[in-house]
Amino acid sequence: MKKITINDLMQWKQEGKKFPTSTAYDASFAQIFESQNMPLLLVGDSLGMVLQGQPDTLPVTLDDMIYHTKCVRNGSPNCLLMTDMPFMTYATPEEACKNAALIMQAGANMVKIEGGSWLADTVKMLTERSVPVCAHLGLTPQSVHIVGGYKVQGRQEKQAEQMLQDAIELQNAGAQIILLECVPASLAAKITRSLDVPVIGIGAGPDTDGQILVMHDMFGISANYMPKFSKNFLAETGDLRQAIAKYMEDVERGIFPDEAHTIA
Ligand code: KIV
Repeated sequence: MKKITINDLMQWKQEGKKFPTSTAYDASFAQIFESQNMPLLLVGDSLGMVLQGQPDTLPVTLDDMIYHTKCVRNGSPNCLLMTDMPFMTYATPEEACKNAALIMQAGANMVKIEGGSWLADTVKMLTERSVPVCAHLGLTPQSVHIVGGYKVQGRQEKQAEQMLQDAIELQNAGAQIILLECVPASLAAKITRSLDVPVIGIGAGPDTDGQILVMHDMFGISANYMPKFSKNFLAETGDLRQAIAKYMEDVERGIFPDEAHTIA
């Protein structure tokens, strides 16, 4: 696989070419994903739940993310690699810079942070200092205790308008990818159309530029609950590599997510 950069994603957005993404946490799976030409991998702090068996992502540490970033980079030298900054490691722009540097030095090409326009200064400071940023909006799992659960976000008109404004503000601050989790498909489509940067969705309907799945959900092996919008591609194909290939093909052809895996 050739080395993938943010420029490839920008070009795919302009061409209307949909792209798949997955989480990965270790070298073996990263190598398998790379052998299937998965362009973008996320070392998600979902590892707190799917690897560590924690009830949420809050206990995940910076050291955990650095360790797993190194593992994934070793297995996939060519993917565009994005790593989550864990809870409270980007509470101020200064802390974000210090901690993001360690994640980039571990092999990431981009960091992902959760939150709306309050993060604009942080995004500006990071990107001005050459740390590319993906901004995660909608259901932001690190906010689970403030929100009171894992709930669809953006159903009310005011909330939807705020999310669109947040996305625009974060793009203007320098964010190079926006990720939307668990939002109604019509809102995700509107945000995707309104932005120049690529938008990746999970539980955000078929109209975002890219899709992402937690790999344990793709294989139906999550210890915890499996969200309605996820799909077990291993059950459909019976083979790990074929499951990845089928997921990628279905995203590229616009077949996944279908209506059954979309939040209306
Ligand atoms: O941590 C993670 O795996 C994520 C995805 C759900 C997008 O943020």
